[in-house]
Amino acid sequence: MKFDSLVVHAGDRKRNGGVVASTTPIHLGTTYFYDSAATLDRVFGHEEEGYSYARYNNPTADALEELTTALDGGHGSLACASGMAAVQVAIQAALTDRAPRVVASQSIYGATVKLFDQILEPFGIETFYVDVCDGEAVEKAIATRKPGCVFLEAVSNPLLRVGDIGRIAELAHGVGAALVVDSTFATPMMIKPLALGANIVVHSATKYLAGHGDVLGGIVVSDEEHYETMRTISRVTGPVLGPFESYLTMRGIKTLALRFGRQCENACRLANQLASHPAVERVYYPADPAHPDAATIKRTFAPGLFGGMVSFEIKGADKPAVLAFMDRLKMVVPGTSLGDVHTLLLYPAMASHRDVSPKVRERMGIRDNLVRVSVGIESADDIIADLDQALRG
Ligand SMILES: Cc1ncc(COP(=O)(O)O)c(C=O)c1O
Repeated sequence: MKFDSLVVHAGDRKRNGGVVASTTPIHLGTTYFYDSAATLDRVFGHEEEGYSYARYNNPTADALEELTTALDGGHGSLACASGMAAVQVAIQAALTDRAPRVVASQSIYGATVKLFDQILEPFGIETFYVDVCDGEAVEKAIATRKPGCVFLEAVSNPLLRVGDIGRIAELAHGVGAALVVDSTFATPMMIKPLALGANIVVHSATKYLAGHGDVLGGIVVSDEEHYETMRTISRVTGPVLGPFESYLTMRGIKTLALRFGRQCENACRLANQLASHPAVERVYYPADPAHPDAATIKRTFAPGLFGGMVSFEIKGADKPAVLAFMDRLKMVVPGTSLGDVHTLLLYPAMASHRDVSPKVRERMGIRDNLVRVSVGIESADDIIADLDQALRG
């Protein structure tokens, strides 16, 4: 089946007990029993498929997991209570029986940096940061640090840089490390990290997958090698997504191909319009032929898709000027998330990169006049008009 059909059909219509609904319902029960205790015994012992207790598995979450496995082309998935819970499980699974060292991209979500530096570091797990778009630097970091895990985001935030997943996977595997890719910004529609050599893929389902600003969730999709380890971690620690959120995420994914296709189209139009706007200094968008990672983008992105995120710098704006610009927005929502049906605008210096010192921000290329737009599915004319009136002041 093609991607547009998979999003609608995969995971649905399971014969749980003989009654089959056309769309997977919400199964709230936590505890299961069978006609004979011997069956329950076999289910507990993994000799027979089935359900015993909701921390281990749940029919609604199972259906969602089957769907996300199909979309990313993995061996199996785990639906988690947040994107961060998914990142933690993925890193733990990758580091099991490996050196407690991580080589991570220096351009990753702030909470993931905190996970490495504040949560994992006290347990003896060291993290070394590198610019994953600098081929030589990645090669050197992996060769000298000999990590157990290499971690990067498929499309970086907020400058939308793209590392070469295929090459980095080769380097990681060369030293016996697992490659974990957070593909939240890309979605399985635009990039398939497992097909490029990654071992584990993570999505914050809160963003494009669920897509409507009403679910907090995360997905880990793994290769065969890491699947049982990941499930064991989950069975013991229980980071699982509840049945209601699993249902909403599955419902959201049914329109992912339509939503993300429209978001990419709208983002392309917006990026083109902003490029010639008198109040805009610079636009960051992966379709730009002058993008520093244009060759990697051409090799790894699905044809014709460049994502729904656009970042741009406002000419001469300092923090008060950016805040005033945000206050003038009438339709675009000045909120922190991304991937929703409605267009969202985030100011990195105020939100995602607030804890990063101005000096380090400047070094990362994140200037005080930079804003990031997660383009929604509204009419592109309305998105462009709202940003235009706010920019003109
Ligand atoms: C790239 C990326 N990964 C992970 C997360 C964490 O997701 P969640 O908020 O669902 O825990 C976020 C949240 O913004 C994100 O942008």
